Amino acid sequence: MKYIVPLFAVLIVFALRSEAYCTLSCTSEEIATNTPHCFITSIVSGTSCVVTGSESLVQRIEKVYLTVDISSTLTAVTVQNQVAPGKLEIVFSREYENIRTLTLHGDWIRITADSLRNLPNLEYFTFISGIFDVFPPFTNYHPLLTELILHNFTTDDPFSTIPSDKVSDLPQLQNLRLCPAKIVQISHVGISLLPSLETIIICNVTNSETAFQNACPSFNNLNAISIHEGGLQDISFLDCLPNPEIFEHLNLDFNQITSIDGLHRFPNLLLLGLFENRISSIRRSNFTGLGQLTFLNLPGNLIDVIWDDTFLDLISLKKLNLDVNPMVTINPRVIESIPNLEYFKTPLLHCDCSLEWLSIAYHTHNLHINPYSLCDTPSQFAGLNVYDPSIYVECSNANSPYECFSKTRETCNDGSYCQSTPEGFECICEGENNVYSRMNGGKCFNIDEVLAKPAECDGTLHLNADNELECGSPNKVPFP
Ligand SMILES: *[C@@H]1O[C@H](CO)[C@@H](O)[C@H](O)[C@H]1NC(C)=O
Ligand SMILES: *[C@@H]1O[C@H](CO)[C@@H](O)[C@H](O)[C@H]1NC(C)=O
Ligand SMILES: *[C@@H]1O[C@H](CO)[C@@H](O)[C@H](O)[C@H]1NC(C)=O
Repeated sequence: MKYIVPLFAVLIVFALRSEAYCTLSCTSEEIATNTPHCFITSIVSGTSCVVTGSESLVQRIEKVYLTVDISSTLTAVTVQNQVAPGKLEIVFSREYENIRTLTLHGDWIRITADSLRNLPNLEYFTFISGIFDVFPPFTNYHPLLTELILHNFTTDDPFSTIPSDKVSDLPQLQNLRLCPAKIVQISHVGISLLPSLETIIICNVTNSETAFQNACPSFNNLNAISIHEGGLQDISFLDCLPNPEIFEHLNLDFNQITSIDGLHRFPNLLLLGLFENRISSIRRSNFTGLGQLTFLNLPGNLIDVIWDDTFLDLISLKKLNLDVNPMVTINPRVIESIPNLEYFKTPLLHCDCSLEWLSIAYHTHNLHINPYSLCDTPSQFAGLNVYDPSIYVECSNANSPYECFSKTRETCNDGSYCQSTPEGFECICEGENNVYSRMNGGKCFNIDEVLAKPAECDGTLHLNADNELECGSPNKVPFP
């Protein structure tokens, strides 16, 4: 086994240096028949081979067979169908022991299970928008499979179930994607015995939850799961994962999830995707322990309120998407509590002065707000970006008592208002002669009053418990 690895490396270099091109060379006799076999002898390897056919060829034929005939030393084959949908079939008519990577994509490209059988050492198989005759028995014929990507695929036989003995028991399989082009079932042990599995993506499978639960005990290395269109209602099916602490990506878009109870079991979760689900209420307790989470994706849910402290424990959060939720406003404290936030997408909002902080955060705090974050109401602002300064021109002088958008979560009291400065946000008092003292309870003081310090006071002025200016001891500093 030891010297096989360098040998493979040499072969890859050789394969990539070869020219990759395909020509369909059907004879006119072949074209005259309905199903011509167009043999090609040129090299198909390394870079992508795009098969095209002239229009007259395509119109006259039902199917083109591209029989791969290449040097037995080549290790990778890539073919893209540009003949016409469903008209190109790839044929391996003899065994190719060296082929480790096969990539077939585009427009219902076809391959049969028998052809695939001629690649016994296949490790990486990517099949995008393709059709098999029958679902291939990967388990029996490709024991070395490391990556199996089946995206938007179907079969000629009535395809309603992914059978149990075809994708199970593959000891080396690390990455699996099973996304049929229409909704099917998966046998209850259809994906079991995959001890090396690191990432799994399943979509369009009605019973993914039970299939996953049956398979779960062998998933010692699993760190990323995507289940789309799987009808999930909660995440309890993850309870069976043997190593929750290595788990990093959870993507459950297009399900019916109402509860995310149990997330605290995944302290190293980086990404949580819940696009298009049925989540109506989120609280701080739902995200306890997710100190590593960097991306929270919640568009298309039923969330109508975000509480100030909801994201307080998400100290690593960088991206937050709340698009398409029924909430109409967001308090600045929600965002102030996320120190590392870089990107934010809001739903349609009601843009009144209480949202001025969005403009301030965008223009002076470099918070990247997605440009499709728009105002819905009032009607004169509908369609404007939530951070458009023209919405808030009337606001900044309005002396509004709302919280200042700042990391210190300062509240501007007593007639002061929030203003951005080059240093960040500050509470400012109306009138030239008024100064703001954060230390003394966040109040405005008249500077004349302060300067006219009573002669008998040799200390500094400060506020007493009744909020009155008082002569205090010299070591107190009233206006930091
Ligand atoms: C599936 O493949 C067909 C044929 O190429 C294509 O028209 C369709 O858009 C694809 N669907 C998805 C979801 O990729
Ligand atoms: C899932 O199935 C639906 C309908 O059956 C189809 O429109 C969609 O393209 C499929 N998704 C994928 C990724 O194939
Ligand atoms: C969040 O936690 C509360 C209990 O603290 C629970 O009632 C609610 O269903 C949880 N929300 C989600 C989406 O799981």
